[in-house]
This record gives sequence, C-alpha cells and structure tokens, in this order.
Amino acid sequence: MERDPIFTLICLLIVVFSPLELSEEVDVLGVEGSISDGETLVSSLETFQLGFFSPGKSRNRYLGIWFKTCPGTVVWVANRNNPIADGKGVLAVSDSGNLVLLNQTKSVVWSSNMSVTAQNPVAQLLDTGNLVLKDNKSMAGSYFWQSFDYPSDTLLPGMKVGWNLKTGEERYLTSWKSADDPSPGNFTFRLDKNGLPQLVIDTESMKTYRTGPWNGFGFEAIPAYLNFLFKHNVVSNENEIFFSYEVANKEITTRLWLNYTGYLQRLIFTHDSKNWEFLYAAPFDKCGIYGFCGANSVCSSRRADACKCLKGFISKSQESKNCVRESSLDCQKGDGFTRLVGVKVPDLLKFQLNESLSLKQCEAECLKNCSCTAYVNMNVSEGRTSCVMWFGDLFDISEVSDMYRNEVVFVRLSASGLGLTHDSRKKNRLMAILIVSIISSATILGLISFIIWKKWKKRDDLLHLTRLESGEDEREVPLFHFSTIEIATNYFSFGNVIGEGGFGPVYKGNLPTGQEIAVKRLSKDSGQGVEQFRNEVVLIAKLQHKNLVGLLGCCIQGNERMLVYEFMPNKSLDSFIFGSQGVICADHKKKAQLSWRNRFDIVLGITRGLLYLHQDSKLPIIHRDLKASNILLDSNLIPKISDFGLARIFCGNDVETKTSRVVGTFGYMAPEYAIDGTFSAKSDVFSFGVLLLEIVSGKKNRGYSHLDHLHNLLGHAWLLWNEDRGLEVMDTILEETCVRSEVLRFIHVGLLCVQECPEDRPTMSSVLFKLTNEEATLPRPKAPGFFVQRNPYDNFSSTSVTTDWSFCLHSMQWMEDFVISDVFIFWVSFLEIVSGKSSTGFSHPNHHQDLLGYVSRNC
Ligand SMILES: *[C@@H]1O[C@H](CO)[C@@H](O)[C@H](O)[C@H]1NC(C)=O
Ligand SMILES: *[C@@H]1O[C@H](CO)[C@@H](O)[C@H](O)[C@H]1NC(C)=O
Ligand SMILES: *[C@@H]1O[C@H](CO)[C@@H](O)[C@H](O)[C@H]1NC(C)=O
Ligand SMILES: *[C@@H]1O[C@H](CO)[C@@H](O)[C@H](O)[C@H]1NC(C)=O
Ligand SMILES: *[C@@H]1O[C@H](CO)[C@@H](O)[C@H](O)[C@H]1NC(C)=O
Ligand SMILES: *[C@@H]1O[C@H](CO)[C@@H](O)[C@H](O)[C@H]1NC(C)=O
Ligand SMILES: *[C@@H]1O[C@H](CO)[C@@H](O)[C@H](O)[C@H]1NC(C)=O
Ligand SMILES: *[C@@H]1O[C@H](CO)[C@@H](O)[C@H](O)[C@H]1NC(C)=O
Repeated sequence: MERDPIFTLICLLIVVFSPLELSEEVDVLGVEGSISDGETLVSSLETFQLGFFSPGKSRNRYLGIWFKTCPGTVVWVANRNNPIADGKGVLAVSDSGNLVLLNQTKSVVWSSNMSVTAQNPVAQLLDTGNLVLKDNKSMAGSYFWQSFDYPSDTLLPGMKVGWNLKTGEERYLTSWKSADDPSPGNFTFRLDKNGLPQLVIDTESMKTYRTGPWNGFGFEAIPAYLNFLFKHNVVSNENEIFFSYEVANKEITTRLWLNYTGYLQRLIFTHDSKNWEFLYAAPFDKCGIYGFCGANSVCSSRRADACKCLKGFISKSQESKNCVRESSLDCQKGDGFTRLVGVKVPDLLKFQLNESLSLKQCEAECLKNCSCTAYVNMNVSEGRTSCVMWFGDLFDISEVSDMYRNEVVFVRLSASGLGLTHDSRKKNRLMAILIVSIISSATILGLISFIIWKKWKKRDDLLHLTRLESGEDEREVPLFHFSTIEIATNYFSFGNVIGEGGFGPVYKGNLPTGQEIAVKRLSKDSGQGVEQFRNEVVLIAKLQHKNLVGLLGCCIQGNERMLVYEFMPNKSLDSFIFGSQGVICADHKKKAQLSWRNRFDIVLGITRGLLYLHQDSKLPIIHRDLKASNILLDSNLIPKISDFGLARIFCGNDVETKTSRVVGTFGYMAPEYAIDGTFSAKSDVFSFGVLLLEIVSGKKNRGYSHLDHLHNLLGHAWLLWNEDRGLEVMDTILEETCVRSEVLRFIHVGLLCVQECPEDRPTMSSVLFKLTNEEATLPRPKAPGFFVQRNPYDNFSSTSVTTDWSFCLHSMQWMEDFVISDVFIFWVSFLEIVSGKSSTGFSHPNHHQDLLGYVSRNC
C-alpha cells in the first residue's frame, strides 16, 4: 500500500553528485580558494552543505545549499535563472570581494553583486543554513552579504519575510517552477503590510491564501499549538517589518516550504527514518483558499456545503457565491450589529484603522460613516488594540477555532435585518424584563442554596480531609505569589518552556531557595472561580503516592491559574521509549538505557499509580489524558504520573459523564470517549493498554502504520497475537534482556485493556494482579478499539462507514497535545467526509442513532 504522499515526504536522494569530495570538510572559502563542481562547503556542525546539484530529472547544474543529512532537500539556490549546462561551474570570492559563480568560459553566471565589499573577504556557510560574506578580521557580527536576504522557496528558523522600510526592499519566498526546475514559479509567500500585517500566498498578484492579521501572539488561521513548537514573530519598527520564527527545541530540524503548487508546508525532519514529516499546510482545507465563499459569506469546513451567508444576507443566485443584504442599511433610522465569533476577520480591502479606541468608541466611529459595514476591536501587539472598520463587501471570512483568540466581528445590519422592527422592539423589551426577573429570582434562590450547600460541604470536606491527613489544616497547600513564579520562570520566557499539554504550557523554574519546579500554566478557559479552583487543588494535593508527581502548590492571579509541581530532571517516558522528542528524532542511545527489567518496573509503577487514582485514594480520579509524555521518570527511573486531577478542574468530577469537551490525546483515547464523549475509569484502562503496548514495542500507537495492512499498533499487535506471533511486537532492542513469558503476558494484558467495549476491559486492580501473577489465567482478547478488519488490497472506500481507523488516526498525528474539542469537530467532519453523510441529519433506520453513535455501536 502506498502511504499518502501528503503525510510522509520521503527524502529521496534526487541529487546527482560527482564522486569527488573535499578530503577535509571546511565551511570557509577565501580569495585563494574556489569550489568547483563536486566539491562542497560543510557548516561546522555538519547541518548544511553547499555545492552543485541537479534537481529531479534535470541535468542542469545549480549552486545551492541543502541539509547534509538529506541532500534532496535544497533550501537555497544561487543561479535559479541561469543554470550551468555542464559540470564545469566554479564558485569563488572575487578580488572585488564578491561571491561569483563562473562557467567554463569564466563568464559570471551569478554574483552577490555588492558594491561595498570587505578588505579581507571570506565566505562562510553557517550552521543556520546562511551563506555569508564577511571580513576575515571581524569574525562575528556584520555581514556584507548573506543568502538569508535572498530567500528561495524555503524559510529556515531565523530567516525573515518582510520589508526593509528604509530601502523599500521586500524579501519573500518564491516557489520553484517544478521539482526539476528551481527557476521562480507562480507562487510567492510574503508579508502583506497593508493595514495590519498578515502573511499571504499569491500568484500573479492574486491572493490564494492569507493567515489573517497578526494579533500580537499569532496569526488567526494558524493553530496556536504551532506557536509553542515554533515561536512565530512579527517585528515592526521604523526600519523594518518582518515575520520570522524560532524553534523551541534546538533538536528539531524544520522548514517552511512553499511548494510548486502554492501550498506552504510546515515540515519536520525525522532523523532515523530520514523522512520529512508533514505537520501543517496553508491553505489547510478549502476554507483556507482565499475567497472560497465569495462576498459576505462564512466558510466552515465542518459543513458539507461549506459556504453560508452571514446573518442578514442571502444568496441571490445559484451561479454566484456572493451574498447580498436581505434589507439595505438605513443610516438614518439606525442600524445595529450582529456578532460573529471564531472567525478569521474579513480581508482588509477597504478599511480604516484607529488605534486605542474602546469597543464603544469603535462602534460609534463605525456608525458615523454610513458605508461602514463591520468593525472589530482587535489586539495588534502586546497591549495595543486597533479599531478596524470595513467599508463595502466582506471577503474571505472562515471559521477558525482557537482557545487563545476571541475577536468578535460586529457586522452591521439594518434594524429589520436584525429583526428589530418597532413592534418587535417592544416585544423584546417585555421579554427582557421577564427574563431579568426570572434570572434574578433564580439567582437569589441559587445563592441561598449554594450557601447552605457550601456550609454542609465544608463540614463534609473537613471530615473527609481529617480522615486523610489527621488533623492537618485544609489550607496547607502553599499559594505561590505570581511575582515569585514570574521570576522563577524568567517571566515565562520562551526558553523555559519544557512542554505543552492539553491544559496549557509547562515552564521550568528555579525558586530563590534553589529548588527546581515545573509550572503548569492552565489555559484560561477552565471557567473556574478562585474558591472552586483552590478546593480542587487542595484535593489534588492530598493525593500522595510514590508513582504520582508531587504537587507543591498553586498560584492564582486574575484569570491566571497555575499549578506548581516538583521538577523531574529525567523528563518523560516518551523520550526514553521513542527517543527524544518522540517522532521528531529518535535517540537510540537513550532508548537502549531501558532494559526489560526497567520497563517491567515502570509498567508496574504506572499500574500502581493509576490504581491509587482509581480506587485507593479517597477521591476517585479518572486521569483522562494518560500517555507516555505524562509519565515522568525520576533519577531512579521510578515512573510518576503527572497531570492527574486536571480533568476535574476542566470538566467536573462525575464518574461517568457525557461531555462535549473531549480532553485527551489521539492514539490514547478510548473509542467511546473519542467518539461519544463518554468516559469512565475504563477509558483510562484503554489508554493504559496503549501505553503498555508502546512500552513493550517501543513504537507510538499514533503515527504507527504497518506497511502490510495499515493498522495501527493495536491492530498490528492483535493480528500478530492471533497468529501466535505476539513476541514480534516487542522492541528488538529488548531481545537480550527480556524474559519471554513476561513480555507475552504484558502484551496479553495490554490487548485486554484496549478491547473495544469498556465492559470487556479489566479494572486496574485486576490488571495489577494479571501482570504480577504467573498463574493468572487470561481470557482471549477481543478486537481492539478502532480496529476494522480490512482487506489490505481494498481501495479506500469513501461510501462506507467502516472507516479504516488507523488511517484516520495516522492522518491526525500532527495534532500533538492540545485541547481536543477542535479535534473532535475535525473528527466529526472527517467521519462526514468518509461516510458521505452528515452527522446531524444521519439516522440509521434500525436504531435511530446519529452517525457518531452508529460508528461506536459495535459493543
Ligand atoms: C583568516 O584569518 C586567519 C588569521 O586571522 C588566517 O589564519 C586564515 O587563513 C584566514 N582565512 C582566509 C580564508 O583568509
Ligand atoms: C558562459 O556564460 C556566458 C554568459 O552567460 C555564455 O555566453 C556562454 O555560452 C557560457 N559558456 C558555457 C560553456 O556555458
Ligand atoms: C549588479 O547591480 C547593478 C546595480 O546595482 C545592476 O545594474 C547589475 O545588473 C547587477 N548585476 C548582476 C549580475 O546582477
Ligand atoms: C503557472 O502559470 C502559468 C500561466 O498562468 C500556467 O501556464 C502554469 O501551468 C502555472 N504553473 C503552475 C505550476 O501552476
Ligand atoms: C503541496 O502541498 C499541498 C498541501 O500539503 C499538497 O496537497 C500538494 O500535493 C503539494 N504539492 C507538491 C508538488 O508537493
Ligand atoms: C480615526 O482615524 C481617522 C483617519 O484615519 C480620523 O479621521 C479620525 O478622526 C479617527 N477617529 C478617532 C476617534 O480617533
Ligand atoms: C466613509 O468612509 C469612506 C471610506 O473611508 C470615505 O471614503 C467616506 O468619505 C466616509 N464618509 C463619511 C461621511 O465620512
Ligand atoms: C487582547 O489581549 C488581552 C491581554 O493580552 C486579552 O486579555 C484579550 O482577551 C485579548 N483580546 C482579544 C480580542 O484577543
């Protein structure tokens, strides 16, 4: 079976090299030296290489820079327009101090062409991928020329896309014509500085994509989680305005690539498999395509018919996607506004900006001008807002869902468009009075019962707590000062970020006492008041077990909620079993550190920790986000579960609830949870089973796809098990240290834990018994969740609901950890797409379930 090329771009060695190589690798070229075809410069840490290459099927020679580990990936080309036909090109530093590329007849094919030059010029290939011309005397700092100023089709960390406002020069990416031809193609990726800065892709000066304006933190249409891996930046001052990015973890090799067909791809290099793994593309879906829906229309990829007119607008004809007003504006009689949330704001075509107005002033400003059609008061940088007003039609509005953004677009409608005729206004007022009186009496009633309940509950809690910790004050949990945390984490500096989980980023910090801490900064929408939050933290802090990470305290400031944990220097389990950074680059040395005995102990530790959470603690806790990256190892490799109890803060504490807010991570989520939103302790057992199989196999469930049958790790393990080949699941690294009977028992228990139906899965106490008792008889495991028997030679069926889940999970692997409600929606639309049915309209004749229910009904 072929894997989808979108998701894995195999790094093909498409470059033809001459066998000649410089005997000693150097990164500097002086006036005396030269580089002829076949010779190369290599940056000091061997990241990049400069030399001649032929792209694809072409026989032309170009001078370029590529990743040394992946010679097919060229990031910069010098002579894009002037290829050298033979292999006789030479790169040299000329007497005038310029870099020159000469062909056989010594004519200049390409030149750095600077007028001001160095006295003692040298060219150096830096480890950032930048080729620079500088004075040999002043080694660091100023460059006379650098390749970063002349981007090709790739943006590396530290490169800029934008404008030099002094000279009016613009830097932008230009796609190649094709894989065989690096000459400038049809697409460019640039910074649009008109109004508020945004990134755009265009072709023949028509936009094909835009990110939406920069709001001080990110671009509207770029998922926020990408900001934690890649710190996006827009710098604007009187000299320049540009976009660039940094990488959070220096081990990550990444690039932004504008491909031949006009898509900007975010790619990450996986060192062990030499693959470029695809994380994100822009445009990502049809709603990302500029103006997909025409004027005054909102695009939503969740709907089968993506386009829908704005409220108060109708579509006039079948042919045109544009929507027009139902009733025209009436400036005199007074217009109103309708709110539009969760969207990429309309493109800035005809607009006006006014800095620092309040929302009311912004509205007033819009009402002043009869042709103003919408306004928004949006953040444009840290602490600065701008009132944006639109005139005329509104273009390119699409739904984005992001917990970090909440711009509200106010779209102007006439009174009748809003449904506010004279009569209805009166009616509305009556209605409002009625509602207000109902609400206020309900509030009073609620308040009274709340106070009574509170009193009663406090007594209960105290009783409860005294039982737990004899006589200790319930307010023992230290409350950290915000300023203490700020200083400890270096003002939440980007360099201190050590992780990003579903509930928010984690920072490393140093207290003045020298103690190291990990600070979890909860995302702001937990919706909890201070008291409620503190109560939860007190309860969570009472959970103390050798296999749980210790909570040291919390910090509350305004909307901010933070949890302070002990710091675990050995990082998380995933870096041990999958290599550091999981998929991103495997580290075999670290992997080998964990013998079978270590893994055995780790699994038992996790089992005990989870058992404590489920049963032994006085406060049963369902973890809901158990996964390898949530298991931390201390210096003795004792596993400690982290992030427990957070689900209570975010989702309430019912034992089995249906929730619309699915929190968790793909690859670990039980089917009933991912699809229905129902969770129970058995959903944790599922995640535990996945984790167990991952620890034994050394492979990730999510992202794993077997070449022969495309099943995920669970499916693969189950198939092998049924053929009595269970041991083949084991990580080959364990061959020397393993005890076969134990490995088999672990895999067996793992398969029991991941069975599709919650009732079939064992409880954690039974898991512990089964793992530790040789004599325990184990039932035969049924098919795991998300397993659909599938003929490997079937074509992907687009009409049947029996979806290949492993494909589905696989394609979602780019979604690391973040609040999954978006992913849930994505999942629903995915189901809709593969089944060709709408989730809400669908009702099966036999059981009247909707589509989601239908898929999960196999129990
Ligand atoms: C640069 O200068 C150093 C000494 O300052 C010298 O050894 C070296 O050869 C020079 N390199 C080139 C390429 O001129
Ligand atoms: C070298 O370049 C010059 C100018 O571009 C061109 O006229 C000449 O034909 C080239 N020579 C060879 C051998 O390609
Ligand atoms: C070098 O720059 C000058 C002006 O700055 C320009 O006229 C000339 O065409 C350029 N030459 C090349 C080879 O780019
Ligand atoms: C680029 O544009 C030209 C003319 O509009 C067109 O013929 C060509 O197919 C386009 N190339 C790509 C790769 O889209
Ligand atoms: C460009 O990227 C898009 C989106 O990822 C992809 O669908 C398309 O196949 C890519 N084109 C090429 C030539 O790689
Ligand atoms: C808003 O800006 C416009 C021009 O850009 C100016 O005429 C107007 O007075 C400004 N309004 C306010 C309230 O600052
Ligand atoms: C309304 O705004 C438009 C666009 O900025 C401008 O051309 C027009 O003169 C304004 N009208 C009034 C009455 O201010
Ligand atoms: C603007 O930024 C402030 C503080 O950073 C934040 O509280 C507010 O929610 C942001 N507003 C919008 C519309 O994003």
